[in-house]
Amino acid sequence: MYLKFALDIVLLIAALAFIIGLRQQSSPDTARRGNLISGLGMGLAIIAVLFGPLQGAVNNYGWIAGGLIAGSIIGYYAAIKVKMTAMPQFVSLFNGFGGACAVLLGTIELYRASAGITSPGVGELLIICFTLLFGSVAFTGSMLAYAKLDGIVNDAKITLPRHQLINTFLLILTCAISIYISAVEGDISLLFVGTFLVISLIYGFSFVAPIGGADMPVVISLLNSFTGLTSAAAGLIYGSQIMLLGGILVGAAGTILTVMMCNAMNRSLLNVIIGGFGSTAKSGAAAAGSQGPIKEISLPDAAILLYYSKSVVIVPGYGLAVAQAQKDCRELDEQLEENGVSVKYAIHPVAGRMPGHMNVLLAEADVPYPKLLDLDESNPVFPQTDVVIVVGANDVVNPAAQTEPGSPIYGMPVLEVWKAKHVIVMKRGMSKGYAGVENPLFFHERSKMLFGDAKETMQKLVKEVKAL
Ligand code: TAP
Repeated sequence: MYLKFALDIVLLIAALAFIIGLRQQSSPDTARRGNLISGLGMGLAIIAVLFGPLQGAVNNYGWIAGGLIAGSIIGYYAAIKVKMTAMPQFVSLFNGFGGACAVLLGTIELYRASAGITSPGVGELLIICFTLLFGSVAFTGSMLAYAKLDGIVNDAKITLPRHQLINTFLLILTCAISIYISAVEGDISLLFVGTFLVISLIYGFSFVAPIGGADMPVVISLLNSFTGLTSAAAGLIYGSQIMLLGGILVGAAGTILTVMMCNAMNRSLLNVIIGGFGSTAKSGAAAAGSQGPIKEISLPDAAILLYYSKSVVIVPGYGLAVAQAQKDCRELDEQLEENGVSVKYAIHPVAGRMPGHMNVLLAEADVPYPKLLDLDESNPVFPQTDVVIVVGANDVVNPAAQTEPGSPIYGMPVLEVWKAKHVIVMKRGMSKGYAGVENPLFFHERSKMLFGDAKETMQKLVKEVKAL
């Protein structure tokens, strides 16, 4: 009795750690600590569950310890080695493993029910089928998303004729099978369980196949919320409150992030769910073509323009992350501030390749959080800004999102940098951004190009400013 009480207390502490950790992860200032607190909570939850009244655990401590040690070592080294720019596929891979766990649990429980080892009721069977179905979608969907983002398969939309119809059919079929299994109270053959499993896995693959390009982060976040929901469902199956709570937190956080990203990219969640998301993308990529001459600016001229301005806004993008130019940006910021120039950073919610990508990089360079403006705060500031420096950003500052209805990014809210008095665009050449479309900003009358690698150019610019 005392042991149970002690374990309940540990589980309560773990639950609080999840909630406090998640709360702290919402701000760059406290995110690192929040991550650690959540991790400690997970450690406590695992310990409490292992020593609790778990059927079968006692005889399998060796296996469980082996799995924990191997998983921890792989996870630790993978997290240390992964590059910041490869985080989306890393998250996708981890998420896929979570989905695979749910698939295993759902399959085992269905097998036990069909073999007469257990006799779950209709409600329980519905939850088990839900776990298997959503776990499968999270598993094969995340694996395909990983392969696309890592370049193992072409990051394009893999579509069959009438793909959306096929996906809708697969979804209806899997739901119908789930209802049937529950209605007959698990009185099904092993072959039927296997067929349900295979169709669910195919649906997950087919769900992600037609999605590609800039729409991938939304899908990864959605799949992440599916994994959370399946964990919550597994918590119901096993009567584990901590699993239920953890699953609900992951499911809710993933869903909120999905909705926020949909808003940021002006996409509807329904389109994501039916798997036809962004299917017109790139077809309109013909877009602009060459739009006239571009103007370049020399390093000394750029330094003078910045040094004698009153307000500067830096817009970081994926190129800043690739070049690792965040610390050099900060140095330029400090040099300009010493001369009385106000410097802010405009952060687009999908700049870079993962949610919060720019916030993380700038926090790493000790940029004070109040200097960061989000999309809604930035746009009213641009008309009063003397100089905007676009550092390796492209799609997030593309005016075509507002002016070209045929463009795949049409409707996506963008940073309206062209409203500032001067725009300096730092990039290596005239390559397109992630969405693969031409950017009329580079040809705008107020824009000047400063070509070169973002880090090297930034370092040279700092030297020029220091010399003034
Ligand atoms: P992008 O549109 O991807 O453009 C980045 C630009 O950086 C490129 O045009 C490239 O041009 C330049 N660049 C690359 N390496 C550079 C370097 N070393 N130095 C200087 N410039 C360099 O970036 P963005 O504006 O940040 O937009 C992000 C895009 O990714 C959006 O379409 C978004 O939807 C998508 N996306 C976002 C996420 C999330 S959640 N953030 C995840 C996946 C995809 P050059 O080659 O000419 O230098």
